[in-house]
Amino acid sequence: MRWDTPIRLLGGLHYLALTDGIDPWASPHDTLVEQRERLSRFVREQDVQTNEVGRCFGLLPAFLGLAHATGESLDLVELGPSAGLNLVFDHYGYRYANGEWGDPSSGVSLAHEERAPVPAELLARRVTVRRRRGIDLNPIDVSTADGVRTLTSFVWADQQARLEQLARAIAVARAHPPELIQGDYVELLPQVLADRDEGALTVVFQTASTQYLRRERYADLRAVLADAAREAPLGWISTQRHDEEAGEFHGYALEVALWPEREARVVARMGYHGEWLDYLA
Ligand SMILES: C[S@@+](CC[C@H](N)C(=O)[O-])C[C@H]1O[C@@H](n2cnc3c(N)ncnc32)[C@H](O)[C@@H]1O
Repeated sequence: MRWDTPIRLLGGLHYLALTDGIDPWASPHDTLVEQRERLSRFVREQDVQTNEVGRCFGLLPAFLGLAHATGESLDLVELGPSAGLNLVFDHYGYRYANGEWGDPSSGVSLAHEERAPVPAELLARRVTVRRRRGIDLNPIDVSTADGVRTLTSFVWADQQARLEQLARAIAVARAHPPELIQGDYVELLPQVLADRDEGALTVVFQTASTQYLRRERYADLRAVLADAAREAPLGWISTQRHDEEAGEFHGYALEVALWPEREARVVARMGYHGEWLDYLA
């Protein structure tokens, strides 16, 4: 059994609730028996596609650091963006202990626990995003009802605040749709990085996606990144996989690189959904 099978199954049950209006939680056993075929197909075919905008609370300081280091605008390439809700991070509002950032009138306003605060001078910085592209095996189109249902099915039905935030983020992404490319990012990244524009720093980033790659496939991805960094400067922001992390804690270690100048190093730790942030850099 794959490690994410239980998440797929819970997503499938929620998907049924959203499409058929049935209440799978009233009698889970009966639902599992009666809907066995549809649920089996969902578990087999549907990747986990939780698109969690709370992670932007941890990503923002990393984007600001890279934009400041180069003094340039950014061209973003997200690996495994799902619907691309984190590709429009600059259209959200943020409240940290040491300052605010972004659009205060945005429908998405993020203010999470900070275990070590993000410095005020970092939050004073601005960033211009020139281009936003994402590569996903199965990009979700939030302009369709089924796209919205699929995304929603991976937020658990009793998590009202997250469901409401997802709906608001979908509205933002509909107003500012990112470019989503369908395919395997390990395959497609070389060609996407081949047309880098010198007027901006290209930043490849990912959250909660490389953990789904087999170890050898992840090594292939790192080799693609290393090759691209030999051609031109490249930014990298990534939640580490468990086989990379030093130390045990319940959350993600966030690494940032600015190749070839700065090797990857962990700049923060954060909750799996960005619900807390421990800024280290
Ligand atoms: C759990 S979701 C995370 C979505 C988003 N990055 C976030 O943090 O909210 C993982 C995404 O990675 C995508 N994915 C996994 N492996 C991939 C691959 N090899 N190429 C492209 N997309 C991939 C899945 O389709 C899914 O949309």
